[in-house]
Amino acid sequence: MPYPEIRPRRLRRNAAVRRLVAETRVDPAELVVPMFVKEGLTEPRAIASLPGVLQHSRDSLRKAAVEAVQAGVGGIMLFGVPAERDAVGSGGIDPNGILNVAIRDVVAEVGDATVVMSDLCLDEFTSHGHCGLLTPDGGVDNDATLEAYAKMAVAQANAGVGVVGPSGMMDGQVGVVRRALDAAGHQDVAVLAYAVKYASAFYGPFRDAVESTLEGDRRTYQQDPANLRESLREVALDVAEGADLVMVKPALPYLDVVAAVRAAVDVPVAAYQVSGEYAMVEAAAANGWIDRERVMLETLTSIRRAGAQIILTYWAVEAAQLLRQRY
Ligand code: PBG
Repeated sequence: MPYPEIRPRRLRRNAAVRRLVAETRVDPAELVVPMFVKEGLTEPRAIASLPGVLQHSRDSLRKAAVEAVQAGVGGIMLFGVPAERDAVGSGGIDPNGILNVAIRDVVAEVGDATVVMSDLCLDEFTSHGHCGLLTPDGGVDNDATLEAYAKMAVAQANAGVGVVGPSGMMDGQVGVVRRALDAAGHQDVAVLAYAVKYASAFYGPFRDAVESTLEGDRRTYQQDPANLRESLREVALDVAEGADLVMVKPALPYLDVVAAVRAAVDVPVAAYQVSGEYAMVEAAAANGWIDRERVMLETLTSIRRAGAQIILTYWAVEAAQLLRQRY
């Protein structure tokens, strides 16, 4: 009998050797937790389609931020849910708008203990739910929207944010935001470009989280899931315009894109494990169909293995706690 001499199984035989040879580790410092804060809330509120994720009050947000720091997460990405919206999303630019207030709150609470980031997009603030200003015929006006993003970026930087995350997929947004920040004296505020953002059905639960009432869809500005080369073009443009970090979104259905982007650029690459990815696992686990913790860590490991150095995930705090027990 020709028994094999080369036995890969030797390196799998127990936990110690598996740990020794593991090629990928997820480090809490590379996880970023998205958090939602809603104007006017006195108590945090559950989000039905995102079990375990909350719409925070200003108060509960501060506490959650401290808890996230204690868990060792690398960053917090803030999203605001305004009490009122209008056609131009003025709540995003107003220094007293909920997101800008929340940035101030969180920065006052955690200082430099983690990286405070903010979503830089108008969809949470517009009555029509689009990421920009509309033309009279209902299209999204790229260049008018850029002017709004420039003001919003400066408002967020004035509030003390460390990283802004332009996510509206307008052409030229990174360059405009970078120039506006510099002109306002915010050279140190970094830009995390949502460089690759697909028009994805996986954002469904997020719309609940921010109570967005989107009319129509985002296919004239977000990317077609069919395309990969287009993503490399988007990334190249964003890096040329001054992006400090680039992100791919969603994560798990687009691991080929994550790997291609990683190979194409030298800036840090992030991936956003979006609301629908999270909800899918939570729902299956609630039915007893999958092992929640194992699937959670397997997805994060896979996103990391594909080449994302930073992962935005609603599990960030819990995963950080689990990983710390483990290593
Ligand atoms: C835009 C934004 C969205 C998400 C993050 N930033 C919504 C969208 O573009 O439609 C989705 C994140 C998620 O689904 O978890 N403000």
